[in-house]
Amino acid sequence: MPDYRYLLSEREIPKVWYNVIPDLPAPLPPPLHPGTLQPAGPQDLEAIFPHALIEQEMTAAQNIPIPEPVLDVLRMWRPTPLQRALRLEKALGTPAKIFFKNEGVSPAGSHKPNTAVAQAYYNQAAGVKRLTTETGAGQWGSALALACNVFGMECMVYMVKCSFYQKPHRRTMMECWGAKCVPSPSDLTQAGRQILAEDPETPGSLGIAISEAVEDAATHKDTNYSLGSVLNHVLLHQTVIGQEAIAQMKLAGASPDIVIGCCGGGSNFAGLAFPYVPEKAAGKNIRLVAVEPAACPTMTKGIYAYDFGDKSGMTPLLKMDTLGHDFIPPGIHAGGLRYHGMSPLVSLLHRKGIVEAVSYPQLQCFEAALAFARAEGLIVAPETSHAICCVFDEALKAKEEGKEKTILFNLSGHGHFDMAAYEKYFAGELFDYEYPEAKIHEALAHLPKAS
Ligand SMILES: Cc1ncc(COP(=O)(O)O)c(C=O)c1O
Repeated sequence: MPDYRYLLSEREIPKVWYNVIPDLPAPLPPPLHPGTLQPAGPQDLEAIFPHALIEQEMTAAQNIPIPEPVLDVLRMWRPTPLQRALRLEKALGTPAKIFFKNEGVSPAGSHKPNTAVAQAYYNQAAGVKRLTTETGAGQWGSALALACNVFGMECMVYMVKCSFYQKPHRRTMMECWGAKCVPSPSDLTQAGRQILAEDPETPGSLGIAISEAVEDAATHKDTNYSLGSVLNHVLLHQTVIGQEAIAQMKLAGASPDIVIGCCGGGSNFAGLAFPYVPEKAAGKNIRLVAVEPAACPTMTKGIYAYDFGDKSGMTPLLKMDTLGHDFIPPGIHAGGLRYHGMSPLVSLLHRKGIVEAVSYPQLQCFEAALAFARAEGLIVAPETSHAICCVFDEALKAKEEGKEKTILFNLSGHGHFDMAAYEKYFAGELFDYEYPEAKIHEALAHLPKAS
């Protein structure tokens, strides 16, 4: 009988982060200053980020040592288990082997603490007293609240308004760890007040919440900003996932043909998939598949261009797959996937054909998540359901073709705070949004002229 779980000891937690930059097939276009549209230097980022993270954002070093105090906190739940979905394989009648990394076992319930802990550590070491951030689903806000608590810092979270009301217990969770959480747009910032004046009923978006959190950090001396995805250093911190997976797949005597992750800003996908890039570059036939919602199809329908990371145009411009910074995605329940842009690293690899992108509508994802819960017992976050939907497609294709494939996916988070979404699904109150073509077209017309 094959095993259900493949475990590493605490001593086997990776000691370095893997940096994909030296392995890219082309240079990464630099971020641009939002005012001058010239390449942004480290000094342009110093108002909101500590020096160590700016260095990690730009470094070409292949491996970056993980500081001991960060490892000491990560050891509270890492290494996470690699699990084999044997019961799902049976339920689907597929010859495919399905493995997943279970990042839902962290205290906050997702992969997000992997970077939150590192970011809080470097900020505290630089003398910063308070961190601000945005959160969509609430997973990232909870992760940063947890990390700030560990390192004795204050934490202020701007939570996208529609998610704030869909998931009230996420806010309480953040408060348990001592953080403050407000719905965004709020009247606490200039950016928030302006958006509320234009549209008091707006559901909010990650782009808006980022504007508020960045403004808060830039206008308070003791405060820095912390981002839960998109940037190079965030993806870097997530590579502990893929490095552990490589060691655990060896224990299982298997090697993935397909690596799958859902994609909001790209961090959990990259965390699992990037450590496989060298194998792929060396000629191994391995597919890296990023999955996004059909209602916010950044890679599958967006364009590759310089754009702002936030709604108000305060952040540096990043060259990325984007739907336009003023596109407000429909209020789907996978709040963490409602972002107009994509990490520049994932975008570049996508445009170079190393990463594939697919999209699925919300209802199909919930159906897959329920089938997974009934086979494997685990109830996943709506974001994660997108990865599972793609796993189903690939496993059923393997069945049709009679092929033995090995699939590895990232279970990026549990769905224990997402019962309202499941409840709506059962009540028949969830629906698929039409691809918002006109709104995306309009947003793309407002791209900054830097491409
Ligand atoms: C459980 C979970 N998975 C995935 C994501 C998407 O983010 P990323 O693409 O950075 O992994 C989020 C974001 O909040 C999340 O909470």
